[in-house]
Amino acid sequence: MQKQSRLPVLSARLETVARLVKPCARVFDIGTDHAFLPIELVRRGICRSATASDIRPGPIAVAQRNIARAGLADQIETKVTAGLFGHAVGPDDAVVLSGLGGLEMIDILAVLPGPCSQVILQPQKSAMELRLWLDANLYLIDSEALVLDRDRIYVILRAIPRLAAGNREEGAPAAPLTLTEAVLGPVLLTHRPPLFDAYVQQVVRHIQVARRRMPELADVLADIKTWQHPETLAQCPNSRKEKAHES
Ligand SMILES: C[S@@+](CC[C@H](N)C(=O)[O-])C[C@H]1O[C@@H](n2cnc3c(N)ncnc32)[C@H](O)[C@@H]1O
Repeated sequence: MQKQSRLPVLSARLETVARLVKPCARVFDIGTDHAFLPIELVRRGICRSATASDIRPGPIAVAQRNIARAGLADQIETKVTAGLFGHAVGPDDAVVLSGLGGLEMIDILAVLPGPCSQVILQPQKSAMELRLWLDANLYLIDSEALVLDRDRIYVILRAIPRLAAGNREEGAPAAPLTLTEAVLGPVLLTHRPPLFDAYVQQVVRHIQVARRRMPELADVLADIKTWQHPETLAQCPNSRKEKAHES
């Protein structure tokens, strides 16, 4: 019996990531850093076992210490490797990518050999590109959450491979995501959780810059203006600038 010492408390961001993971056989936490997330998931019984993996040996040394302190060395293995390289992800397993850029997540997911039960993603940026990639690669975004942590709103999404075992009836999507859905999240747009207005402001600031390289984002801004309360949009400094410029 391994000795347990003080367990880490998850940040609000990682707690929200943890809550999106559905019960599964094994979680592969890629870019684990300290391994706080897989430790909590195993401790809570969300998964029977986990792999804590990172591209750098330094974080893995810290992860190993934390796993040993939690008394979970027999349930959580560690690995130094890039992305999913060398991991055997099965159909009942989950992949978590948290704290990486959306484009890096796409590169990592692109080499996943077969469907797993779910992927949980917390992109630091490029969420639109990530959603478009997931949609084009037959993933169903079935859950999205927003969380405020240290003055920043983070978005977390769960995607299920449409061809995963038990999910075959889903098949190809009836229609691809619209650009507005890709920018703001199809589930967030439907459910509009409490942080949604603030998230829209954050995203609007971003797409006002991004539309210089992607002019079609102007349509998304126009779309948002049709349903967003004008006062909410006016709170966004760039939006005011844009209005002054347009007038
Ligand atoms: C910002 S930390 C995020 C840690 C943790 N997942 C979280 O959300 O708090 C990013 C971690 O990902 C690792 N990393 C970056 N690119 C990676 C890759 N391609 N494969 C595996 N790990 C990677 C880094 O070494 C770092 O430890």
